[in-house]
Amino acid sequence: MTLTERLGEYIRACFTGIWIESHEYQDAHVAIAQLCQQENWKLGTWNIEQGLRVSGASVENSGSDPLTAIRSVNSLATQDGTAILVLQNFHRFLSSAEIVQALSHQVIAGKQNRTILIIISPVVQLPIELEKLFVVLEHELPDRQQLGEIARGIAIEEGELPTGSDLEIVLDAAAGLTRMEAENAFSLSLVRHSRITSEAVWELKSGMLKKSGMLELHRGHDDFGSLGGLSSLKSFCKRALLHPSRGNVLRRPRGVLLLSPPGCGKSQFCKSLGQEVGRPVLMLDVGSLMGSLVGQSEERTRQALRIIDAMAPCVAMIDEVEKAFAGVNSHGDSGVTSRMFGTFLSWLNDHTSDVFVVCTANDVSKLPPEFGRSERFDGIFFLDLPSREEKDAIWSIYLNQFEIDRQQRMPDDANWTGAEIKACCRLSALLDVPLAQAAQNVVPVATTASESVDRLRTWASGRCLSAQQPGVYHTSSLKPGSRRKVGRDSSTN
Ligand SMILES: Nc1ncnc2c1ncn2[C@@H]1O[C@H](COP(=O)(O)OP(=O)(O)O)[C@@H](O)[C@H]1O
Ligand SMILES: [Mg+2]
Repeated sequence: MTLTERLGEYIRACFTGIWIESHEYQDAHVAIAQLCQQENWKLGTWNIEQGLRVSGASVENSGSDPLTAIRSVNSLATQDGTAILVLQNFHRFLSSAEIVQALSHQVIAGKQNRTILIIISPVVQLPIELEKLFVVLEHELPDRQQLGEIARGIAIEEGELPTGSDLEIVLDAAAGLTRMEAENAFSLSLVRHSRITSEAVWELKSGMLKKSGMLELHRGHDDFGSLGGLSSLKSFCKRALLHPSRGNVLRRPRGVLLLSPPGCGKSQFCKSLGQEVGRPVLMLDVGSLMGSLVGQSEERTRQALRIIDAMAPCVAMIDEVEKAFAGVNSHGDSGVTSRMFGTFLSWLNDHTSDVFVVCTANDVSKLPPEFGRSERFDGIFFLDLPSREEKDAIWSIYLNQFEIDRQQRMPDDANWTGAEIKACCRLSALLDVPLAQAAQNVVPVATTASESVDRLRTWASGRCLSAQQPGVYHTSSLKPGSRRKVGRDSSTN
C-alpha cells in the first residue's frame, strides 16, 4: 500500500492526529496533496519559516508562532468537507507544555469539524500526552519500481539508462536509498560516466550508510577461498542462499548464529559470504544505535532495520552480538537495551524481506537465552579450534599470501586458531624471520583463555551444529588428539 492509500484510509476514518515519519518532506507532501486533490479536501501547510500556506499561497499574518499554527486549522474547516493542516518538523516544538496541550485539544476537537493535523518529521517523538491521540505512519523507502521511475526521469538521453540485467544491478545498488539520495546518486553517475552505473551508486551508498553511523557496507573481494576449513558451515549457507526456491517467502533462509573462541574466522566468514553468494554485506553497529534521548535508541534500531529490509537481498552481519546487547537484563539504562533487543528480536522473527542474518558471539554466557531459540535462525554453529587438516589448509592460504618459503620447519601449532596462523605468517614476513621464530611471539587464545574455551565447548556440545563436519557438535566426538588439553595456568574473560 502506498503512503497515499494508507493516508486516505485514516483520513476517511477521521483520525485527526497523524504523524508521518519521513526523511523526505517534499515527497510525503506531494502524496498528501495528490490525495487532497482527488478527494476535494482542503489543504494547508505550515512551517516555521514560511508560516501558513493554503493552496500554494501564503496566508498573511499567519506568522511563525506554532500555537497560532495549530489553531489556524479551524480557519480551514468547511461546512461538510475535510480540512488538513500539515505541520513540518513539528517535533521541534513539542518540548513546550502549551503546544502539547493545544495539540491534544485540537486533535480531539478536530473530530467535530473534520479538521486533521498531520505532522511530517524524520523522527517520532511523541510526548506521552499525545501518544494515544496520534497514529504513526512510516513513509517507506522507494521500492524498485519507484527507483526505476526516478532513474528514467533523470537519464533521458539515449544510452544513459542501462537496460535488462544491467538496470536490475543498478536498482539493486540503489535499494535502501531515499528518493532524493537515489536522484543524487544517479545524477552524479551521469556527470561522471555519462550513464547510470552501479559502481557510482554503490560508492555513494557506502558513504550514506556510513554517515548514518549505524550501518556499514562491506565491500571486499574475498570469497570462501580465503577461509580454510569450516566446510560444513560453508556448504550449509551456500545451499540455503543459492537454493532455487529462494523466492518463496516460507522457504527463505533467515540466517545463522556463529559461536566460537575469538580468531576462528567468524567475522571473516560473514564478510566472505556476501562475495560468495553475490549479496552486499551490511554490518550493523549496535553500539551506535544508542541515542541519548528517550526513545531514540529504539527509533534508530527500527530505522536501521528498515534500511536493511530495503537493501534485500543482502547479508546483515551483527558481530559480537553478546557485547552489543550486554545490558539486556540489567536495569542500568532504564531498559533501553532491553527494548532495542526486543525490537531486534521481533524483526528477526517476523521479517519477510530476503535478508540473511549472521550473528557472531565469542561468549555464550553473556548472550540472553531467548536469543538462541531455534526458530530465529536456520542453524546455530560452533566453530571449534581448527583440526589438523583445517590448519594445513589455513597455513597454505597464508604461506601463499605472504610469499613464505614452504621448505622450512613448521612451528608447533597445537591449539592455534586461524588468526594465530595468520599472525605467525605475517610476523615472519614482516620481520623476515623463520616461522619457528615468529611463532615464539604467538600466544594462542586457547592457552590464555582456556577456561572460557572449555566452557564454550561444553555448552556447544549437543546444542550446536558443527561448522567443520556435518551434524551436531559433540566435544567427545572429536577425533582423538584433536582436542588437546589446554593449559590452566591463566584464564581471562
Ligand atoms: N579458517 C580460517 N581460514 C583463514 N583465515 C582465518 C581462519 N580463521 C581465522 N582466520 C583469520 O584470522 C583473522 C581473525 O579472524 P576473525 O574472522 O576476525 O575471527 P573471529 O571473528 O572469530 O574472532 C582474520 O584475518 C581471518 O582471516
Ligand atoms: Mg570477530
